[in-house]
Amino acid sequence: RQNKIALRPLAGKKVVVTAGGTVERIDPVRYISNDSSGKMGFAIAKAACELGADVVLIAANTKLAPPSGVKVISLESAKEMYDAVAAEWNDTDILVKSAAVADYRPKEVSEQKIKKSGDTMTLELVKNIDILETFGRLKTSQFLIGFAAETTNVEHYAMDKLHRKNCDLLVANDVTKAGAGFGIDTNVVSIYDGDGLVESLPLQSKDEVGLRIMELAAQRLSGAKL
Ligand code: CTP
Ligand code: CA
Repeated sequence: RQNKIALRPLAGKKVVVTAGGTVERIDPVRYISNDSSGKMGFAIAKAACELGADVVLIAANTKLAPPSGVKVISLESAKEMYDAVAAEWNDTDILVKSAAVADYRPKEVSEQKIKKSGDTMTLELVKNIDILETFGRLKTSQFLIGFAAETTNVEHYAMDKLHRKNCDLLVANDVTKAGAGFGIDTNVVSIYDGDGLVESLPLQSKDEVGLRIMELAAQRLSGAKL
């Protein structure tokens, strides 16, 4: 029995994972999105499930098969993702924001397909709500894990985001590195907390990275700081 508890350190905990890239509609057939495949978030959801948690996976624009045993909510936009996180928030123990959320959305969404007209076209964009920052401000006992994909000054931006969004852990990847980034099955990440670097993981599968992130979260949640 002792062993069982140690192997399922997130038993009784609710983990909410956001994954994929949001879709911001321009008209019924066009949208703005990004290259996120959702693989990192799905790997985290799978790991959390293996560690015993009740997992809600909020997924935007992914083509992946959901891990078994996980409740999946599929949606498109940042606004819908915000609403979905809000609906789960009260009894959330760990929120993992691995989704790539569009920073801006079209100001107007056309109900009809936009017709071609002049030689140039301007699309006005407005800022989306920052989901992680909002819940970072609201957090009481929830454990927040943020992500950052950077191309330069990784540690500097990671620590800035961690503090600005009140995260407990921030997972940063340098997407210029071979084996890291969008669409592939591997990743190279560094994990930070409020004191700085916790650990830099070598190149490994997103499944392994996901498991390590959730193990760290479980340890931190139980009060251990390893
Ligand atoms: N994030 C979010 N809501 C947004 C934008 C970002 O919840 N509207 C979250 C992401 O899910 C991620 C973290 O914030 O966990 C960092 O996202 P990132 O795009 O790297 O940070 P930004 O603050 O948007 O900064 P920038 O894109 O300018 O680097
Ligand atoms: Ca951004």
